[in-house]
Amino acid sequence: MEKSEHIYVQSNRLVLRQFSQQDIDPFYLYRSSPEVARFQSWENYHYHDAEVFVEKQSKCVPNQPGTWFQFAIALTETNQLIGDCALHTLLDEPRIVEIGFTLAEEHQGNGYATEAVTALLSYVFHDLQKHKVIAFTDVRNEKSIRLLERLGMRREGHLLENYMSKGQWVDEYQYSMLQSEWRKT
Ligand SMILES: CC(C)(COP(=O)(O)OP(=O)(O)OC[C@H]1O[C@@H](n2cnc3c(N)ncnc32)[C@H](O)[C@@H]1OP(=O)(O)O)[C@@H](O)C(=O)NCCC(=O)NCCS
Repeated sequence: MEKSEHIYVQSNRLVLRQFSQQDIDPFYLYRSSPEVARFQSWENYHYHDAEVFVEKQSKCVPNQPGTWFQFAIALTETNQLIGDCALHTLLDEPRIVEIGFTLAEEHQGNGYATEAVTALLSYVFHDLQKHKVIAFTDVRNEKSIRLLERLGMRREGHLLENYMSKGQWVDEYQYSMLQSEWRKT
């Protein structure tokens, strides 16, 4: 593990840590996969985009109003990058945060996203003492919906034609969890 790789949260099999230079190749590989990008905002992801992303994120700190912080999800045993999860601290109400998540295809289906986002929720509600977590998902993104419901998040909105995805307006669900709900899980 490099010295700069601050670890924010740990779980059984995973660490959520700062991005670092060694992550550029594996990050590029999964970000540029059309299957991973299918319900995400990006397309035609280039290697240079990955270099810029990792460089920027390696210097960021979480919990700054109006910013997105990306946690690298790595296997505890090898420190290998397998995905990322994001924390967006809202500018106007920083006690509310938005989360996002991505796993490389070859690491899906093992419960890693459930484990990583469970750890992220603990960091957000326990360490940062946030009031509410929200997440948006394309209504067609079944794996994401299953994950959010497995985590115990509550569907609280169906937002019609809420974002432009690859040239098409698509509906999103908004999922939420309050700190009071998390305490009961
Ligand atoms: C959304 C995403 C992270 C979900 O990944 P995932 O691998 O399905 O979720 P998990 O890692 O929690 O794995 C859960 C699956 O593994 C299975 N599993 C196997 N071993 C498991 C274990 N030890 N613990 C929990 N689940 C396990 C579960 O049954 C579940 O399968 P199912 O959904 O078919 O029932 C992934 O599909 C992804 O990265 N998609 C592309 C990016 C994206 O669209 N992100 C969402 C934007 S809102």
